[in-house]
Amino acid sequence: MRPMTKAQFQVFATSQAVAEAVASHIAEAVQSRPQSVLGLATGKTFVPVYAALVALSKAKGISFAEASSFNLDEYVGLPPNHPASFRCYMEENFFRHVDLPADRAMLPEAHGDAAAACLAYEAAIAARGGVDLQLLGIGRNGHIGFNEPGAPFDGRTQVTQLTPSTIAANTSDFPDGEVPPPEAITMGIGTILEAREIVLVATGAGKAEALARSFLATPAVDCPGSALQQHPHVTVFCDDEAYAEIAKG
Ligand code: GLP
Repeated sequence: MRPMTKAQFQVFATSQAVAEAVASHIAEAVQSRPQSVLGLATGKTFVPVYAALVALSKAKGISFAEASSFNLDEYVGLPPNHPASFRCYMEENFFRHVDLPADRAMLPEAHGDAAAACLAYEAAIAARGGVDLQLLGIGRNGHIGFNEPGAPFDGRTQVTQLTPSTIAANTSDFPDGEVPPPEAITMGIGTILEAREIVLVATGAGKAEALARSFLATPAVDCPGSALQQHPHVTVFCDDEAYAEIAKG
């Protein structure tokens, strides 16, 4: 049974096929609108997506010179050069490989005055005319960005407390013995929903339940991903494993 949602599903046999399809989708968006404002995501899911996008950009000569980007989130208190910071992730996986201007590759400034950084981030997104294409991953508990269960659907960019399960899921990104910070700055769900288009990427059996709760259940704040049912233009790129619970209906 297909889910009762306006979201479109593109389902592939492998995570690599998902990555290549998402990369093509982003590349087409930037080719048709070079000034695109991209909302970018981190996480293990996006490592092959950025690799495929970098390869495609090099092969086809796709330029990001006129584009801008805003990442969803960043840990509070990590310096930008910390290996587990999302700034460092983005530099390693994407920014250093493409011609996106450094001053238009934005992440929340989470190592100073966090409250001021949240307001500044919202203002910067608005000044660029809003996000055209927002990439999203999803946490096993249904979180989007770092909006954990209970986050309001109209929330703006804010400081958020990470749940123990999210901290545990992300500990492997940190050097041995180092624990992730307990707080992050994240775009709010309300901020995310203002993007003109949303692409959610989910791979692996570990995401199957979160995907089903997001798109089959009645929207509720205990599953942040379910807010996406309110958005008119969502495409979910996933593999068979992540789609398995939705496929059961
Ligand atoms: C992280 C990020 C999210 C990401 C999610 C899933 O904590 N803040 O933006 O989508 O959790 O991450 P992964 O792709 O590693 O499973």
